[in-house]
Parts: sequence; C-alpha cells; structure tokens
Amino acid sequence: MTAEIIDGKAIAATIRGEIKAEVEAMQAQYGKMPGLATVLVGARKDSQAYVSMKKKACAEAGITSFAHDLPADISQADLLKIVQDLNANPDVHGILVQLPLPDHIDDEEILGAISIEKDVDGFHPLNIGRLSMKRREPLFVPCTPRGCIELLDRTGVKIEGKEAVVLGRSNIVGLPVAMLLLHRNATLTICHSRTKDLPGVVRRADILIAAVGRAEMVKGDWVKPGAVVIDVGTNAVDDPTAKKGYRLTGDVDFDEVKEVASAISPSPGGVGPMTIAMLLRNTMDSAKRAVGMK
Ligand code: GUN
Repeated sequence: MTAEIIDGKAIAATIRGEIKAEVEAMQAQYGKMPGLATVLVGARKDSQAYVSMKKKACAEAGITSFAHDLPADISQADLLKIVQDLNANPDVHGILVQLPLPDHIDDEEILGAISIEKDVDGFHPLNIGRLSMKRREPLFVPCTPRGCIELLDRTGVKIEGKEAVVLGRSNIVGLPVAMLLLHRNATLTICHSRTKDLPGVVRRADILIAAVGRAEMVKGDWVKPGAVVIDVGTNAVDDPTAKKGYRLTGDVDFDEVKEVASAISPSPGGVGPMTIAMLLRNTMDSAKRAVGMK
C-alpha cells in the first residue's frame, strides 16, 4: 500500500484564503483590520525564520503585523512592559512571543502576562488549563496542535473511538494535541523517550502524532498497516549534497512509513504551513470577538 499524502501546504492555502475573505468582510463592515504583534527576542536563526514566515502570511491575508525584534539581553522588566503595552493597544488582537526565550528570561511570567483575550498561541496557563479539562472552553487552542486536528478533519479521518498515540510530551505540541484528541473521543496513549518498547506502543496507533524532535525515528515497522500518520517534527540533518549543507526532515522515516500507512503528512509540507494558518485563524477569531463580528 502507498499512503495518501496529506498536503498541508494546499490545505493551509485554502484556510488562508478563507481568512482573507473574512478580513475583507471585516474591513467592509467595521472598518477594522485584525492585528498581530510578534515579539522576537535574540537572533536565533530558526526563530527569525519562523517569525518572518508568520509576518509574511499576515501581510498576504490582510492582517497588520506589529513587529518587536528585541536584543537577546533585554531585561525581564522591559520585556514585560512591552507585553503590557501590547495588551493595552486596541489595534493588536493577538500577541505572539516566539519561543524559546533566552535563559535569563522567566518565560512562564511572560506568557502569563499576555492578556488571555490576545493569547493567539494559546500558551497562557488559563487557556492551557481550560484545554486540559472537560467542558471548559479555552479562548484559543495552540496553533500546531490545532493544525494537526485540522489536517485530520480536512482529510476526512474519523477520530472518535480510534487508538491515538502521541509520541512526545512538549508543552507546545505533545501535551495539547493529546488533550484535543481526548476531547474528540480518541483512546489516547502518550509515549516518549523513556517509554518501554516504544515501537510496540507506537504500533497500537490508528492515528499517530509524531512530535518527539528526533529525525526519522519512526520506522516502517513501528506503524500499524493502514494507520494515519501526522509528522510534526522539523529536524535539520547534515547533507553535503544540499546547497545549505543540511536538509529538513520529520520525526518519521517518510519513505518507509508511506508504504505502510494509509495516509501521511510529510515534513516539510505538512504540519508547518498549518501552524501558520492556525495562527492567522486565531488572530482573526480574536479580532472578530473584539469587534463583535459573527
Ligand atoms: N516555538 C516553536 N513553536 C512555536 C509556536 O507555535 N509559537 C511560538 N510562539 N513559539 C514557538
């Protein structure tokens, strides 16, 4: 069997088109544009690249960006002040503080200072707390986990009653995506680097979310025939034949697993574009809430 390839780029483009139409409708009806503030601290190449892609996607959809590119040695107090000023700015509907922050910054305090009405990353402890409980609605769901579920939904994959396995337990992806799968009535297993017989546990999955951050760790014989595989990993591996000297690859050995799975999202080109689309979705939803648009 060769798996259906879940084209995250195409699905994300559709969603971005939907958002663009809503932005135009908001402008026409309310004379307002949605606004996203990006806060980037330091000069990590990966974070710079992610923030730049997010700003570009905002511009294409008609969302105004408010960029704050800050030095790596900024103080906790100065960073906190910037977040507080953004909380008070009515043109800003979403605040994104790119992670990771430098070691001297207490990221828990910074993320907790973002107004929950503008927490488009969904990382505020209140939003995460609500996401983790039954029948409590967070204002925002974190972008990458929401993107994983959206990929499943838009591919027509039924989640209810399925064995879902999440490989990885990060605050940004593993834990929140597990909560979302549980809310959708999957039977859930979370596994990680200390799990005994990891291949055996992963092989239980009807739906596998690989978010462990280890290049091509999931092999063909780790996957149940017919499973649906969502690869969240983006890992740089040395490749002397590539122009940059490296290539990006997922947590899944794509060539092996595509012969076993019924559907698979590649990386790059799967979850990555969805994270950005969901950030635009959350920002648009926040702006709609702010202006009272249905
Ligand atoms: N770092 C890695 N992923 C993310 C994300 O989704 N949002 C933010 N703010 N930082 C990240």
